[in-house]
Amino acid sequence: MSALLPRLPGPDHTLAFLRQGYRFIGNACDRLGSDRFRARLMLRPVICARGEDAARLIYDPDLFTRNGAMPPSVLRLLQDKGSVQLLDDASHRHRKALFAGLLMTDEAERSFLEVFDAEWRLALRDWTAKGRITLFDEVNLVLTRAIFRWAGVPLDNPRQMAGDLSSAVENTGRIGPRMWLALARRHRVEKRIRRVIDQARASGANDATPLHRVAGFRDADGSLLSPDKATVELINILRPTVAVGRYVTFAALALHQHPAWRDALRSAREDSFQRFAEEVRRFYPFFPAIGGIARRDFRQGGLEMSKGDWLMVDLFGTCHDPRLFPSPRDFDAGRDLSWRSFGFDFVPQGAGDPHRGHRCPGERLTVAVIRHATRLLVEAMDYAVPRQDATVSLSRIPALPRSGMALSGIRERA
Ligand code: HEM
Repeated sequence: MSALLPRLPGPDHTLAFLRQGYRFIGNACDRLGSDRFRARLMLRPVICARGEDAARLIYDPDLFTRNGAMPPSVLRLLQDKGSVQLLDDASHRHRKALFAGLLMTDEAERSFLEVFDAEWRLALRDWTAKGRITLFDEVNLVLTRAIFRWAGVPLDNPRQMAGDLSSAVENTGRIGPRMWLALARRHRVEKRIRRVIDQARASGANDATPLHRVAGFRDADGSLLSPDKATVELINILRPTVAVGRYVTFAALALHQHPAWRDALRSAREDSFQRFAEEVRRFYPFFPAIGGIARRDFRQGGLEMSKGDWLMVDLFGTCHDPRLFPSPRDFDAGRDLSWRSFGFDFVPQGAGDPHRGHRCPGERLTVAVIRHATRLLVEAMDYAVPRQDATVSLSRIPALPRSGMALSGIRERA
């Protein structure tokens, strides 16, 4: 591992990471005057880095694998064993094509927004009847109903499912009982989805729903995915879609904190909503950093690494790098950002070419949902934002406005 890099003083930095959260890598870089440094996390040596060059490195699939790059509990709660994220080379590209074909198309965006819009408008009637709602909880429920309907997966207890799926994301940064409970809830989801996969296979039906596409998908060697793997991959579509509720909550916070943008959106075209959604993804904290394990010895981009070395790249810090984004701490929906650039600077959901590397295949849907939800918040309803503590702590991973964004006096607009 690069001996010349500055080293963060102290025997282990796990506690500092837990305390500083999203700012851990950036704080240490500023303190050491370097974009890369050596540290120890969970008693394991790691190189931490930020910026475009670092993102380029860790998203080079020939140099890094995700195998062994995440603590086992985080892996279980998020992508899980047997998932596309843990594959490399041709088997990764083959499995990834399943996700790209399902998620990254015009038709996927159009059809998902249609069900999302319908579920939101149905929920809006209910919100109008209630005095006050917590937007985060309600949007998670709307997204759960929408993604199950869109994917062709039966849903018998929407509230429980919404809670189970969001608890996996909520508790990734936790240790102890909260994490154990989240693992138990994940297990309940797996049992349910495994049954759905078994039934889909037994029915012999072979329609174009994501459920049947996953159930009938053949890996690069021509074999059907094992039931466990098919379960994991279907959950890899359901869980992160519900997680977009966090960005929708941030979008509502941005509308509240920046009324000028809200006014500007009232008569705006689609591309203004799109830019607003992209700035929500750049500005607000979600996925803090990504880890990778070197697949071989190499010297590149100013780093010398040996096979097995651990690199962690700051996604949040890269999105707030003043060399890439002028005045990065200002929310500015006038920036011209887009997931379509497939670049290495604007990296809230990973970097580079999603077909070749591990960049998120759900970016297009994520942006579409934030954009459309923002439109619904601005155009389809009136509401008040009651007094509340909506502060966003950067030491809590994953971050959220403390109140979850309470809204009151909701009225449907004619
Ligand atoms: C990968 C973040 C939404 C499915 C990733 C990665 C990040 C990310 C950072 C890269 C992981 C890596 O480099 O190893 C997010 C965030 C989202 C989101 C913040 C907002 C909620 C979605 C959606 C879907 C999705 C909506 C599917 C419907 C996936 C899958 C991968 C992935 C399957 C693994 C890709 C691979 O390893 O090749 N996501 N994602 N994500 N995401 Fe997302």
